[in-house]
Amino acid sequence: MKVLLFFGLVAAALADVTRFDGEKVLRLKPVLAEHVTLIRDLAESIEVDFWSPDSPELVTIDIDVDIRVPARYLSIVYTTLGQSSMAHEILIEDVQVAINRQADNGISPKELHSYTKYNTWDTVLSWINSIASSNPSLVSKQVIGNTFEGRPMTLLKLGKSSGTTKPSIFLDCGIHAREWISPAFCQWFVKEALETYGSDSQMTSLLDQMDVYVLPVFNIDGYEYSHTTNRMWRKTRSKLSGSSCLGTDPNRNFDAGWCTVGASSNPCSETFCGSTPESEIEVKNVADFIRKNKSSIKAYLTIHSYSQLLLFPYSYSYNLAADHSELMSVAQGASAALTSLYGTRYTSGPGASTIYLAAGGSDDWAYDLGVKYSYTFELRDTGYHGFLLPESQIKPTCEETMLAVKYIAAHVQKNL
Ligand code: ARG
Ligand code: ZN
Repeated sequence: MKVLLFFGLVAAALADVTRFDGEKVLRLKPVLAEHVTLIRDLAESIEVDFWSPDSPELVTIDIDVDIRVPARYLSIVYTTLGQSSMAHEILIEDVQVAINRQADNGISPKELHSYTKYNTWDTVLSWINSIASSNPSLVSKQVIGNTFEGRPMTLLKLGKSSGTTKPSIFLDCGIHAREWISPAFCQWFVKEALETYGSDSQMTSLLDQMDVYVLPVFNIDGYEYSHTTNRMWRKTRSKLSGSSCLGTDPNRNFDAGWCTVGASSNPCSETFCGSTPESEIEVKNVADFIRKNKSSIKAYLTIHSYSQLLLFPYSYSYNLAADHSELMSVAQGASAALTSLYGTRYTSGPGASTIYLAAGGSDDWAYDLGVKYSYTFELRDTGYHGFLLPESQIKPTCEETMLAVKYIAAHVQKNL
């Protein structure tokens, strides 16, 4: 009886958690126009989750296309691939197994904050509160608004207080829910800044001269949902009247060529641009904050995963940014600094030509507002683990990324 009750409770608790047993992540290599059409047709007829690029519309010849395929569709996909003779490989044999293996840094109670684990939102929030209260001379916090589901979007301001407004850098993480390494980096950045202020000369001069605003989790509702219910969730969790599909892609919802290219007006798409620019309250809160502080904000850095890229404007057009050469040389310097630590290779360039055209992104919006040093990072890896990067890689990933961020910050400081 007791045993039955126990299993009953476990089953109830697990009932609404999406499982990914037997699902695979495949890498397809389209080299003909027919291959591209075939991938798009596949996306229409069966359920496939695009890991890279972000949606079927963005598929082109000669790029790697990483897709998650539910177990029941694998045989159709294999048959189709065989008939078309499109090259492909298996990146992840079993997505559920990979999910279970992410937490390879030991187990600890989930309420306990750790810089080398993927913390839940509740844990991140208590960490935000405690880090701010224990470092009053360097950290202050501020709520810039609530999310759709009412969670407080809390921004940390790092910097030595001075009487006047200092020039600043804005850094956000977790625009996309399932890119868990991203919020881990923002937490790491705050830790490093506080630990090395006073000993590392660059960090000391940075926080003396500038403020760094850190938004540890941008899309909190989505992040929470990816922890509790569906590990593969990407978008926000907003509801739209007239559609049963939830969520907008926050990185298609900014007012920068909004919904013109590489985004979808279908609410069920993973790259849904929303009903209007800034329809997402999270996007509006961030955009309002940056607009309000635009005279002080000199750089905008946003952290995503995966692919190992350092991108800059534009993504909504192939036009080169007015500051293209400077942005490119800073990106190359930052990538070289990153590579110097563990040899991790990055590609840098404008979003449109480096990956794909995709409008409504935060980087393009910030740049057009006048924030010159606007960069999007796509952290580790290149697809072997994809979004399911094991926790054992948090430390090396954050360490190397720190070098790139500090390289950019040094350049910004030099050019104040
Ligand atoms: N993978 C990111 C995305 O598609 C890349 C963002 C690059 N910038 C952009 N404005 N599309 O959201
Ligand atoms: Zn992303």
